[in-house]
Amino acid sequence: MDNSLGKNCTVLHESCTTALSRSDFAPRIDLSFLDPPFNQDKAYNAWDDNLPPEEYWGWMREICGKLYTLTSEGGAIYFMQREKNTEFVLQCLRDAGWTFQNLIIWKKKTSAVPGTKRFGKHYQIIAFATKGKTPRVFHRLRIDPPLPADYKHARENGMFVTDVWDDIRELTSGYFAGDEALRDTEGNRLHKQQAPIQLLLRIILSSTNPGDVVLDPFAGSGTTLVVAEQLERKSIGIELDSHNITLIQNRLTEWRKSDDVSRFFKDYACTPDLEAIWGEHGQSRKFASPDEPTAKQMAFLESNQ
Ligand SMILES: C[S@@+](CC[C@H](N)C(=O)[O-])C[C@H]1O[C@@H](n2cnc3c(N)ncnc32)[C@H](O)[C@@H]1O
Repeated sequence: MDNSLGKNCTVLHESCTTALSRSDFAPRIDLSFLDPPFNQDKAYNAWDDNLPPEEYWGWMREICGKLYTLTSEGGAIYFMQREKNTEFVLQCLRDAGWTFQNLIIWKKKTSAVPGTKRFGKHYQIIAFATKGKTPRVFHRLRIDPPLPADYKHARENGMFVTDVWDDIRELTSGYFAGDEALRDTEGNRLHKQQAPIQLLLRIILSSTNPGDVVLDPFAGSGTTLVVAEQLERKSIGIELDSHNITLIQNRLTEWRKSDDVSRFFKDYACTPDLEAIWGEHGQSRKFASPDEPTAKQMAFLESNQ
């Protein structure tokens, strides 16, 4: 099923394994964000999240290989996973031909998962790699986070983003996930793995220009597409679960204030040429009020009760 949502965004309701194999899939991908099920026995509607490890990593290798073929020279992939799987992620990317660039540590702002016989876990990894040695696009973004307590001098012009991202809050399962998390009328999360828009904002701004093509083969609730659309990038999302397809369609047709990325523009204000990187009309989209669910959201919420 092909679901074009305007001229810039396409949502495919099928398995990415099938979609990426089609000869007419897409002319060229410039950036892929890979946030697959982590194979840790989570309750997905349409997917067995408890595959034998060899089968799971064989599948990931196959996806990375297909993406490599479809990607423009110098194009990028960001592959997110649990930290304990780092060696498998790097191996998959290498086997598929990708050139390693960074292992990004996404240090959670929420509390660590405690360990009784080892240190508590406080981060997730995102492997960044490119097709060929030289990235086709890499914008060196500058941010200006609060100074650590023992710093004597204020920064004059912020600092470059490094490979440790500790300024992006994950959407946790409870109350602290805040407004951004999609919820039913009782406050339950509609997609427990929904990524924060700030994470995709950083990835898309770093590795693409307006007009480039962004792909999310495991689109989930559509976070990648929601951010790409606001930054004037073309986007393709593939998702297996029909429930999530509805979430994506609603999210992309009736915009929620909490999905507005323009409030983060100031965080990157020290970046040269930020307007050009961000996209000309990126700040002018009309969003619904934060308090009022849109008509489509209401209909969807009611049908899910
Ligand atoms: C970790 S979630 C992605 C969450 C997403 N980043 C977001 O912000 O909402 C993984 C998603 O992959 C979907 N999925 C699982 N197997 C798939 C397949 N073979 N093809 C496409 N999507 C698949 C699941 O239904 C789930 O929504």
